[in-house]
Amino acid sequence: MSLAFALHLLAATIWVGGMFFAYQILRPVSGEMLEPPIRLTLWKNVLWRFFPWVKGSIVLLFLSGFWMIRGLGGMAKLGWHVHLMLVLAVVMTAVFFVIRGKYYCGLKDAVKNENWGEGAERLGEIRKAVGLNLVLGLIVIAGAGLGRYLG
Ligand code: HEM
Repeated sequence: MSLAFALHLLAATIWVGGMFFAYQILRPVSGEMLEPPIRLTLWKNVLWRFFPWVKGSIVLLFLSGFWMIRGLGGMAKLGWHVHLMLVLAVVMTAVFFVIRGKYYCGLKDAVKNENWGEGAERLGEIRKAVGLNLVLGLIVIAGAGLGRYLG
């Protein structure tokens, strides 16, 4: 149980913390400093490096999550925060696969064809979807902390 809990927290930190850095820090600075060709190529490469970490975190979150649910006596015994966590984690995972499977492919093609207008549109979609996942991830973490102590 303690190992599952530690792995769970590490995976949550990597995924949600990575999105926070990308959205709140790198996005405004790259928008202010870089012209579209460099900015869009930067994001194509940054996201490409982030994706394997997100996929690994998703696998770890679900495995460790279900492992803890079993150890804690099943879903029926657990508080509202775990139910909320599971639902939002499913939504976040679906949003991630839309980003990875749809918007990112559009960004990659646009960069390859040096179509910067199209690339900026795809990046705008990625920005909105990551913003949504970041908010959901923060709600999950805040809810997890509150739920544990408020019951
Ligand atoms: C975005 C995905 C997720 C994030 C950010 C996240 C985050 C967290 C955090 C911060 C805690 C610690 C709260 C505490 O002190 O109890 C926690 C606990 C827990 N999580 Fe998750 N989690 C995610 C997905 C999942 C999934 C998919 C499952 C189930 C399959 C799950 C099941 C659990 C369980 C059972 C606990 C222990 C609850 C308790 O001891 O009261 N989580 N999670």
